Amino acid sequence: MRIIQISDTHLSPGKVHFADNWPPLAGWIAEQRPDLVIHTGDVTVDGADVEEDLRHTGKLMRGLGVRFRAVPGNHDVGDAGDRRQPVNDERLRRWRTHFGPDRWVEDVEDFRVIGFDALLLGSGEPEEAAQDDWLDAVMDGAADRRIAWFLHRPLFLDSPDEGDTGYWSVKPRPRSRLIELVRRFSVALVASGHLHKAHDFLHDGTHYIWAPASAFLVGPGMMAPPLPGENRLGAVLYEIHGRTLEAEIVAVPGLSPHRIDDVVEEVYPPPQQVIDPSAA
Ligand SMILES: [Fe+2]
Ligand SMILES: [Fe+2]
Repeated sequence: MRIIQISDTHLSPGKVHFADNWPPLAGWIAEQRPDLVIHTGDVTVDGADVEEDLRHTGKLMRGLGVRFRAVPGNHDVGDAGDRRQPVNDERLRRWRTHFGPDRWVEDVEDFRVIGFDALLLGSGEPEEAAQDDWLDAVMDGAADRRIAWFLHRPLFLDSPDEGDTGYWSVKPRPRSRLIELVRRFSVALVASGHLHKAHDFLHDGTHYIWAPASAFLVGPGMMAPPLPGENRLGAVLYEIHGRTLEAEIVAVPGLSPHRIDDVVEEVYPPPQQVIDPSAA
């Protein structure tokens, strides 16, 4: 069983800055003949506010001709506690319309592969509690299968005990609950995206993979403090046979190494200041 993980494609019909990386990625996926593609989010430039971005990229994903699953990124459904784009039922409904559920299970060989929505974590939305209950149930239901998780945001950067890393990893409170599950069920793999960096390491017997983006790199000026991992684009190839899982972060020929730093004012402009003329 071959699975390909892709991440952070940041596609939009209106903002085509990274669109030239889709054809080489799609062509490479077809050559690899995977059984399943998993997209770990930031599928769109701004699906959180622009439904057309979700519609467009949903069509591109279905055009791969390979079965796929996806978990949303912050640019697809907003974020927990975000002032401008909070994750909420309306944004989740739009995601589900174009990409299906934001949490799912795939039983593959002797593995249970679980995808879930990292943007709900710490949101206090009713869907967060529903997802917590669902995760407990599907973990219990794994029986003697090994377990692999896919989510957008990494659980931590350097250590499960670290404090709040802000934008970059899961907040300490929801993280501690998840780490407890990782330990109790000896989770084999935790795979994520979001950081636009490639990283592959073991921690307490769990294999952590940060999938590289296929859209763009983030320059050091926009990533402070510097994060672990390698600044490269690509994808991840998984081979699952029985109870063994092999993972390899790979380059994808033909991807242009765009840098968000060069176009951020156009792609993610800062919110306009609203000036109230009646204010003194
Ligand atoms: Fe991203
Ligand atoms: Fe992200």
